[in-house]
Amino acid sequence: MSGATGMCSGCAMNDALLITGCAHGIGRAAAVMAAARGVKLALLDLDGAALGALADELRAAHPGLAIVTAIVDVTQAEALAAAMRGAAETLGGFRAVIANAGGVSSLVVAGMLPGAFSPFTDSRPAEWRRIIDLNLFGVLNTAHAAVPMLLEAGSGRLVLVASVAGLVGAPGLGVYAASKGAVIAFGKSLAKELAPRGISVNTVAPGGVATRAFPPGSPGAAKRAERIPMGRLAAPEEVANTLLYFALDAPDYVTGEVLSVSGGPPA
Ligand SMILES: NC(=O)c1ccc[n+]([C@@H]2O[C@H](COP(=O)([O-])OP(=O)(O)OC[C@H]3O[C@@H](n4cnc5c(N)ncnc54)[C@H](O)[C@@H]3O)[C@@H](O)[C@H]2O)c1
Repeated sequence: MSGATGMCSGCAMNDALLITGCAHGIGRAAAVMAAARGVKLALLDLDGAALGALADELRAAHPGLAIVTAIVDVTQAEALAAAMRGAAETLGGFRAVIANAGGVSSLVVAGMLPGAFSPFTDSRPAEWRRIIDLNLFGVLNTAHAAVPMLLEAGSGRLVLVASVAGLVGAPGLGVYAASKGAVIAFGKSLAKELAPRGISVNTVAPGGVATRAFPPGSPGAAKRAERIPMGRLAAPEEVANTLLYFALDAPDYVTGEVLSVSGGPPA
């Protein structure tokens, strides 16, 4: 898995990667980029149609590459753990697990939130719970299933996806920001807990990314870009690249880090 230098040797050609929330957006970009590197993949998502389309695309582009898919909701701990165990059995374990599923777009699409942004006083506890269930419990559930498998293998990497909202706050997204701040604190804590046992835990905190959250050309995307020092949103691939860095390329010695990918220091 890793060479004596602690670097990924041979770009982990024979090591598998599990990604949650990879039918769209950042997770999808990570899956496409990892497949191009010959990395075996377990792809998990709630959206079966989009997940199937991605798997078909990757299998056509990379014949013979081992790809496992599971339609599963990360908020359902038991189903998620079963899906992850099944994928691990098929692929022979994982080098890394990326807990990416999250955001608010999927909740809006599913009618579980009235909109992506809302003033806190206009929001309701049932909505807070849905946001926290996906963005915090989804990550906890993923980590809870992943860590025993990584420990059994004797090494591995867990990569969490948070948000700069969890570092600096975001108007109209207070509960989401709270869930992402919790993910950041969880990642740092788990990194300390697992460092003596060969498992790294690192967190990526994207800023504005051109996914369903900020569709290219939309007024919301333009407004968000105005607050970014570089004056533009990130492409999903720019964030996916950092996920793969922590999952595949970073030295084993790097753990407990939070990397903002935000086009300039977030204010
Ligand atoms: N886009 C941004 O500007 C931005 C900024 C900061 C952080 N992030 C974070 O990056 C991650 C990916 O965001 P994105 O913009 O690519 O989102 P997206 O909505 O484009 O994709 C999210 C993916 O997660 C899946 N998903 C949603 N709920 C799920 C569930 N319960 N179980 C399994 N899969 C589920 C969706 O089907 C989708 O494929 C999220 O954690 C999000 O909070 C995004």
